[in-house]
Amino acid sequence: MSTFKEGFLWGGATAANQFEGGFDEGGRGLNLADVLPGGKDRLKLLTSSGFDFEMDTEKYRYPNHEGIDFYHRYKEDIALFAEMGFKVFRMSIAWSRIFPNGDETEPNEEGLAFYDRVFDELAKYDIEPLVTIAHYETPLHLIKEYGGWKNRKLVEFFDRYVEAIFNRYKNKVTRWLTFNEINGATHMPLVGLGFSPSSDDVRLQESFQGLHHQFVASARAVQKAHAIIPGSQVGCMLIYAPVYAYDSNPENILHAKKEADIFNFFCGDVQVRGEYPYFIDHYFEENGIEIKMEENDLTTIKQGTVDFVSFSYYMSRTEKKEKTPEEQGEGNLIGGVKNPFLKASDWGWEIDPVGLRIALNELYGRYRKPLMIVENGLGAYDKVEEDGSINDDYRIDYLRAHIAQMKEAVKDGVDLIGYTSWGCIDLVSMSTGQYSKRYGFIYVDKHDDGSGTLERKKKKSFDWYKQVIASNGKEL
Ligand code: BG6
Repeated sequence: MSTFKEGFLWGGATAANQFEGGFDEGGRGLNLADVLPGGKDRLKLLTSSGFDFEMDTEKYRYPNHEGIDFYHRYKEDIALFAEMGFKVFRMSIAWSRIFPNGDETEPNEEGLAFYDRVFDELAKYDIEPLVTIAHYETPLHLIKEYGGWKNRKLVEFFDRYVEAIFNRYKNKVTRWLTFNEINGATHMPLVGLGFSPSSDDVRLQESFQGLHHQFVASARAVQKAHAIIPGSQVGCMLIYAPVYAYDSNPENILHAKKEADIFNFFCGDVQVRGEYPYFIDHYFEENGIEIKMEENDLTTIKQGTVDFVSFSYYMSRTEKKEKTPEEQGEGNLIGGVKNPFLKASDWGWEIDPVGLRIALNELYGRYRKPLMIVENGLGAYDKVEEDGSINDDYRIDYLRAHIAQMKEAVKDGVDLIGYTSWGCIDLVSMSTGQYSKRYGFIYVDKHDDGSGTLERKKKKSFDWYKQVIASNGKEL
């Protein structure tokens, strides 16, 4: 008997902005990712203040415009996913394909028709779509004209967008996620909330206000899904990294706990339990944050709790109350100090399979809802050998170790319903805009300088993952 339940949802994950391309086709409007340059300046931009959302094509390349051209190659790609035996495929809908500016009243038929074709293609192979409604893709017009999610008006525009897609795809999509990595918003408001704080002083105030708007929008989306699509399931999506204390100094343990409360649990508590958690008032008070709410917001949040909890897992985080600048250093995307027990990827992300078991236990213990891992994987440089093979044993090792820990968590009693590894086909990196940071089982011939044929090739991990799925996780 396999540890994973029958019908376990094995598959892969993507996001429209990182792989679809066709950025100016089918009536699509521009969105946030279209103005993010490729290269080393990108990460700085994501975490700093004062970005003007203008493109500078003399200075930069904009890789998200072309992605890996799934827009034209979806049939070939879906056939490869089917060959691996995918049960589920996580993808997002690009909001600006459906509402090019975001504030129109009528959706763009060409955009709607594109996703019909994709869902129909998936259905041919019995692959279930898992659709993220908002994955770092706020329409650019809503950013420039309205200031992104800081502005309450976005709740209304989002309502229109979700109604349009729920009505259109009600017979094709049952599982939905509202906001990708919603809790990453205070760290990277640019991608999560579609605005760049005017200064670091207002960053927290504006980010938490934006988050409140997303909580209301998400809760309304859950209610609409249940009304429009009977039997539908809507999940929240968190970026989750267990927070370890650097040592047994109680000050460090307390600090780690507080970081975990704010970063890991605050958003989940609101979206799963339907209320702002007990610890947040003190945090808001300490940081001078005041949230403007409308009369029914808290009721809406209470009535729109999610059906399941999904999350991304790449790394754990180690915290110390007092950090020297050297300890802080470069590394994990979400901060912390270096953990002496862990090795890191070529991008400094600490690799911690046991942390995934801890994450699953923490989330299940707190929420008691079905869990789904909707992102996990190793961003690495791949080499195509002279005979055309790509021997990504490092990726197989990484995934094997993580799936082994998932098994342990299931034995611990966690209700885990699925796993979609990130970037099942190579795509543009979110944080660096690189093609060379590859996650896929399928290699795409496309490079950081823009060259490449876009040809797809199977890596060694392709057949490995196929066997994992066929054996329902027994053969790793
Ligand atoms: C998650 C995002 O944070 O991590 C994805 O939801 C992203 O969009 C993934 O691509 C991996 O990060 P990166 O920066 O390596 O692409």
